[in-house]
Amino acid sequence: MEYRYGLMTIQWDDKDKALVLIDQRRLPNRLEYIRCKSHEQVADCIKSMAVRGAPAIGVAAAFGLALAAINSKARDKESFMHEMDAAFKLLRSTRPTAINLFWALERVMGKARSTDSVDKARDAMLSEAIAMLKEDLDVNRRLGEHGSLLLNDGDRVLTHCNAGALATVGYGTALGVIRAAREKGKRVSVIATETRPVMQGARLTAFELKHDGIDVSIAPDTSIALLMARGMIDKVIVGADRVLRDGHVFNKIGTYQLAILAKEHKIPFYVAAPLSSFDLKSRVEDVIIEERAYDEVVKVAGKRVAPKGIRVFNPAFDVTPPTLITAIVTEKGVLEPPYEQSIAKILS
Ligand code: MRU
Repeated sequence: MEYRYGLMTIQWDDKDKALVLIDQRRLPNRLEYIRCKSHEQVADCIKSMAVRGAPAIGVAAAFGLALAAINSKARDKESFMHEMDAAFKLLRSTRPTAINLFWALERVMGKARSTDSVDKARDAMLSEAIAMLKEDLDVNRRLGEHGSLLLNDGDRVLTHCNAGALATVGYGTALGVIRAAREKGKRVSVIATETRPVMQGARLTAFELKHDGIDVSIAPDTSIALLMARGMIDKVIVGADRVLRDGHVFNKIGTYQLAILAKEHKIPFYVAAPLSSFDLKSRVEDVIIEERAYDEVVKVAGKRVAPKGIRVFNPAFDVTPPTLITAIVTEKGVLEPPYEQSIAKILS
């Protein structure tokens, strides 16, 4: 029963019209699933990080909108669209930084707008969400294939946060590269940063790699300069929440400092990101960096570790400039600097 769904982060139960998500708040101690039957429930799961990671929140939100359509009692297209707009707004307000959320919602909303009846809209919206779920797995496999060429037998790879199966529908982006290299017979081992304060590295990356029998160790976020100086890291690979047209990368807080350290120690720094994470319109200053709860910082495992009344900064993401990035791996190939050109070319 425990592994009924395998390590598939997102599944659609068509018989029951339910979105089935791994509850990532409970990992690594419990592998439990949540069944969402309404868009409000999906929005709660995204906000509370039961589901997290840019591609995963995109696909989950797409199903959220499909669930709003399935549950709608509207008879005419106008009142149906009214309800869809409200669901769209709720889902888009859950988290601000990962572009995949907005990209996915726009795709499903486009299906609602372009159909001329409620029944057709409902079918088209659900079909689009199902297509996105399948696409995500396929995209990650292709991305992993390209990225695996960057890794050598014996490489010790550092990763940050969780850009794995748990951050996508399955397989992963940065961890997909590692999985693909392993499938090719390369003996690659992983060092995962703990990733304070939500601990995605210690809880999630360590869990999913161990689950798949991949050699993984964890290290405190603060230890990486020493590990690099000691020659313990050959390559760094991270995911992305948003990649801008000039190659600026928004990703989990702490990514920027790792990129600076990698440059100082002449270690290649790779970003793995599907094209759904690219944002050709925004400038760095347009992107909202999510600020998360006070308690995430002042408490550890529910116990207060900082004095009452202390001021806290808790940005969830940072931005790494393109000058620190060796290459960006996508499902269409590996992009190299100057990114303005390589990104424009691959997306044309
Ligand atoms: O706050 P999270 O856990 O949603 O942040 C996740 C990350 O920063 C990941 O690195 C990113 O979304 C890429 S996931 C393939």
